Amino acid sequence: MASSYWVAPSLAANRESVPCRLVPSPPSYTSRSLSLHLGVLIREECQELVLSDGQVLEIMKRLLTELNRGLSKATHDTADVKCFTTFVQDLPNGTEKGKFLALDLGGTNFRVLIIELGGEHHFDMKSKIYAIPQKIMLGSGKQLFDHIAECLANFMIEHDLSSERLPLGFTFSFPLSQRGLTKGYLVQWTKGFDCSDCINEDVVQMLKDAIARRNELGRLNIDEMNPHLCGGRVENYLDKTTPISPERDSNLDLPVLGSLAQHKTSALANYATEAGHSNLRIDVDKIDVKIDVCAILNDTTGTLMSCAWKNFNCRIGIIVGTGSNACYVEKVENVELFEGDKSKPYMVINTEWGAFGDNGALEIVRTQYDREIDSHSINAGKQLHEKMISGMYMGELVRLVLVKFTKSNLLFGGKGSDMLFERGTFFTKFVSEIESDKRGTFTGCRQVLDELGLSHATDQDCVNVRYVCECVSRRAAHLVSAGVATLINKMGQLSVTVGVDGSVYRFHPYFHDLMVEKISELVTPGIKFDLMLSEDGSGRGAALVAAVACRDR
Ligand code: BGC
Repeated sequence: MASSYWVAPSLAANRESVPCRLVPSPPSYTSRSLSLHLGVLIREECQELVLSDGQVLEIMKRLLTELNRGLSKATHDTADVKCFTTFVQDLPNGTEKGKFLALDLGGTNFRVLIIELGGEHHFDMKSKIYAIPQKIMLGSGKQLFDHIAECLANFMIEHDLSSERLPLGFTFSFPLSQRGLTKGYLVQWTKGFDCSDCINEDVVQMLKDAIARRNELGRLNIDEMNPHLCGGRVENYLDKTTPISPERDSNLDLPVLGSLAQHKTSALANYATEAGHSNLRIDVDKIDVKIDVCAILNDTTGTLMSCAWKNFNCRIGIIVGTGSNACYVEKVENVELFEGDKSKPYMVINTEWGAFGDNGALEIVRTQYDREIDSHSINAGKQLHEKMISGMYMGELVRLVLVKFTKSNLLFGGKGSDMLFERGTFFTKFVSEIESDKRGTFTGCRQVLDELGLSHATDQDCVNVRYVCECVSRRAAHLVSAGVATLINKMGQLSVTVGVDGSVYRFHPYFHDLMVEKISELVTPGIKFDLMLSEDGSGRGAALVAAVACRDR
């Protein structure tokens, strides 16, 4: 998506007009007039999902109050939008250089990355995604960080990095109360994570402890293996040393691994197996991990940094993905909680706006569906703003509306399906797929409905299902826009670039356009803004924060 100064797109051309009042019922229905009538009723029922201009302005006013309460020492503790200090005070300028490791924890997956910044806006990046099983997301903190340390060690071995001591940026996308660039205490879990023994703990320390545990447990006497390792050739205990081909080892018929670190691992594995040390087999990949944690940051900060690296006008970072949040550049004099050296004029603030509304500020717009989502979540009463916006909840919100309309005979002739009535079956990507259909065609919509066992849907049902999706996604886009406009107006800069990332923003066909349209209505006249898609903020942003931190050491 190209960044563009706002040009309100002609959404009207894409949308049907939306009658708000019921048309008088005709005395008797033909099947066409009946389905049209149901469509009108559905639009009427969906009105509670449509934010009026007055509501949006009120939300902006309340959010600004909460942002200021978060920044102020006297009210920070009771504010729902905490505005955490990030200790990031310098933006990158494109000349940063060096090789960095990055960890990215916070969405559905965990990633490890190696990034080489070459100066002159050049960079090279390799990464690997590791799943975080639900058992770990809901297990103990120790299990989570042991898993992270293990993925990191494996990554370092695979990329031949185990002999280096590298600076590391840790993108940890949960609310952290930071006491420094490398000290962050977890305030609460969000987005489906709920590991025990982590709240109020320094997560950087937890990572270091897990690495230390791993190094301690797995420390093998590598020298013992010298005959295998040091000649640059892999041998094993069967004395055959010449591979039949450069890619294959003759004894084991295994691919010959490409790096010294991998040779170590495989040789140790061979040794352990063949010498009958089955207990060693378990520890073979536990080679020392040497890292230097230079920074812990939120994904919004990463987004802001990675966009600022390319465009120095970027001052706001937004995520609309599994969760939702924003950070922005604030004058340090307004950051009452920051007690350090105030000689640098600015500080990136992690608003944690996902918790907006936890004090009741959003009750003017929350619906029965929002309350149901919340009551079934693992963090009831928390992250109420996020639950109206983000990808973790959007599909389920649509499903709840569809269930209600089916039960009241407004959809599918009153006949649902087991899948429709089951929680979590309507994925957020379905919303994007349905809204991607050219208007008047239903290919994506029918595919989704078939998958949900609703192949008996009529064309009018498809029109109505799409309308529900539009109401839910449009409301999310408008809430995000209200938040962005509040920040832009608060900052008062005449021109500002907003870095944006997250699956909802990336993959929803109209989210960007809806945001541009709404923000342009809400910003103070005269202020120019543009939305810039962030390219891998969590990875490159982490390297940049680490690079800027190392530069300052
Ligand atoms: C977290 C934020 C994060 C956002 C987007 C929220 O649930 O609290 O820290 O930035 O998700 O990933």
